[in-house]
Amino acid sequence: MAELRLPKNSRVQEGKHWKHEGDSDNLKTFRIYRYDPARDALPRMDTYSLDLDDCGPMVLDAILKIIDEIDPSIALRRSCREGVCGSCAMNINGTNQLACLCHIDDLGEGPVRLSPLPHLDVIKDLVGDLRRLYAQYESIEPWLKNDQAEPERERLQLPEDRDKVDEDSKCILCFCCATSCPSYWWTGDKFLGPAILLQAHRWLVDSRDDRTGERLDALDDTFKLYRCHTIMNCTSACPKGLNPSKAIADTKRMLARRR
Ligand code: SF4
Ligand code: SF4
Ligand code: FES
Repeated sequence: MAELRLPKNSRVQEGKHWKHEGDSDNLKTFRIYRYDPARDALPRMDTYSLDLDDCGPMVLDAILKIIDEIDPSIALRRSCREGVCGSCAMNINGTNQLACLCHIDDLGEGPVRLSPLPHLDVIKDLVGDLRRLYAQYESIEPWLKNDQAEPERERLQLPEDRDKVDEDSKCILCFCCATSCPSYWWTGDKFLGPAILLQAHRWLVDSRDDRTGERLDALDDTFKLYRCHTIMNCTSACPKGLNPSKAIADTKRMLARRR
C-alpha cells in the first residue's frame, strides 16, 4: 500500500503542554506551531490552555495573552490589531486569515490550531519569510508613473475613474491569497501570484498612470501571469473580501484586446 504520510523525520513533533492552573469552565486549547531553524532540528506543536473568560475575543488576543502570561518565546508579526496592516496573517484551523479579525467563538469546539502561512520558509514560529513576495511587489514598480508636468495640486480623478482603483486599493498585502494559491505554491519563483497581480492591476486601471502599455509588456509572460489557472482559492482566502482572480482575468483581457 502507498505510504501517504511524510517520512517520520519530516513530521511535526508533539511539543510541550502548558496546562492552565486554577479552575475555569471556559478553557480553550491552542496548538501553536513552533520552529526556530537556527536551534531546532524539527518543528513541534506546543499546546496551551487558556481561560476564555479572562481573554479578549480574537485569536490575536489569545496569542498575545499566551505570550504575556505563559510563554514569551513565541514569535509572530502583528501591529494594528484591526485588519489594516496585514501582518498577523497566519493559518488558523487550516484557513489563511488575519488573527486580529478571527473570533475565537467562530472556530467552534476543539483546539485552535495555529501555523504560519503555508508554503513559505519559516523564519521562526508563526513568522513566514515574505522576502520573495516583497521583491515581486517591487518588481511591478508600484508607484504612479505620470509623464505630465508636475501639478500644482493633487492630480484629480473623476469619481468613476477612482471607482476602478477602489477595490484593489483596499489590499493590505497580507498574502493570505498568494499562500493559498496552488500555482504559487509550485511556481512562486516565477509566477507573481494573486496578491502581486492584484497590485499590478491597480496601476493598470489608474487613469492617472501613463505607462499602461509598458506595465502590460512586463506582465505578458507565461509564468508571471499565465500560471494563474483560475482555481480561485485566492478570492476565497482574502480576509478583505477582494477578488484577485477577477483582477487577473481583467489583466489577461487587457492583454488579449491589444493583440
Ligand atoms: S485564481 Fe489564479 S491566482 Fe487565484 S488561486 Fe487560482 S491560480 Fe492562484
Ligand atoms: S488580495 Fe486580499 S488576501 Fe491578497 S494580499 Fe490583498 S488583502 Fe491579502
Ligand atoms: S494586526 Fe494588523 S491586520 Fe492583524
